[in-house]
Amino acid sequence: MSDVEELHDAILSWYDDNARDLPWRVPADEWPWPEVDRPWAVLVSEVMLQQTPVARVEPVWRRWMDLWPTPTALAAASPGDAVREWGRLGYPRRALRLHGAATAIRDGHDGVIPANKQQLQALPGIGDYTAAAVAAFAFGIRSTVVDVNVRRVEARLVTGAQHAAPSLSAAETRLAQTLLPTDDARAARWNVAVMELGALICKAATPDCAACPVQDRCAWVLAGRPEHDGPRKKAQKWHGTDRQVRGKLLAVLRAADDPVPRTRLDLVWPDDGQRDRCLASLIEDGLVEPLPRERFRLPA
Ligand code: ADE
Repeated sequence: MSDVEELHDAILSWYDDNARDLPWRVPADEWPWPEVDRPWAVLVSEVMLQQTPVARVEPVWRRWMDLWPTPTALAAASPGDAVREWGRLGYPRRALRLHGAATAIRDGHDGVIPANKQQLQALPGIGDYTAAAVAAFAFGIRSTVVDVNVRRVEARLVTGAQHAAPSLSAAETRLAQTLLPTDDARAARWNVAVMELGALICKAATPDCAACPVQDRCAWVLAGRPEHDGPRKKAQKWHGTDRQVRGKLLAVLRAADDPVPRTRLDLVWPDDGQRDRCLASLIEDGLVEPLPRERFRLPA
């Protein structure tokens, strides 16, 4: 067996024994919810998981599948409903992107998610990552899925660096392509297995190398786990940021049944300038709709 095949076997059999049971990972032949369109379930999960941890995503994902088991069901709801049901997952423009994609799937694809990476990528709001992930996990198509976990695992394993570069480089994409098994089904499993290894073992701050199935061939471990000395991605701040203020404004609108007067929004944050700027940006993003007489609501 070649080195790369041994690597595949080690990580894939670790995944068989250690993967978390997550609902969007249930294979097509065991899918337990006949009314829920599985590719849609995968698409929604991938968009939610991109910037939010599994534990926070799972309840919201379940609620979305109850409310909107198909793209056509979401397309029939208002964008404001999607934003309301986004809850506190953060980065709420993702809810609008899913609503836009659902509408394009209904109108351009008879409500059926295309089983093809180019067509997935052509959907509004679906980027390279999401198209690759849906192709792999919904349709078992061989495609390179590179998220932050994959980048960190591959940086350590192959490059010997403690952390990946601040943003995705062409070299990282090429490396991921090189490591991808040739067989379609094995490639799809490999993608999620490497992701899972990054989430559970090869963690950013506290890697558990003793439990790693490839510790004996990891370039970073073999080099003595050197401290990173290059630029690193900064952790996103929250307190006092526009993101926090936008979240507070949206929380008021989500909880309200009727349009909300500006005077109520004024109570959520003391800094008038920052609050006004945040409200204006929510309107600009299409997350809030202004009405006559200084009232506001989620978009109809
Ligand atoms: N399973 C499939 N895709 C995933 C992701 N992006 N994060 C966590 N688990 C996943």
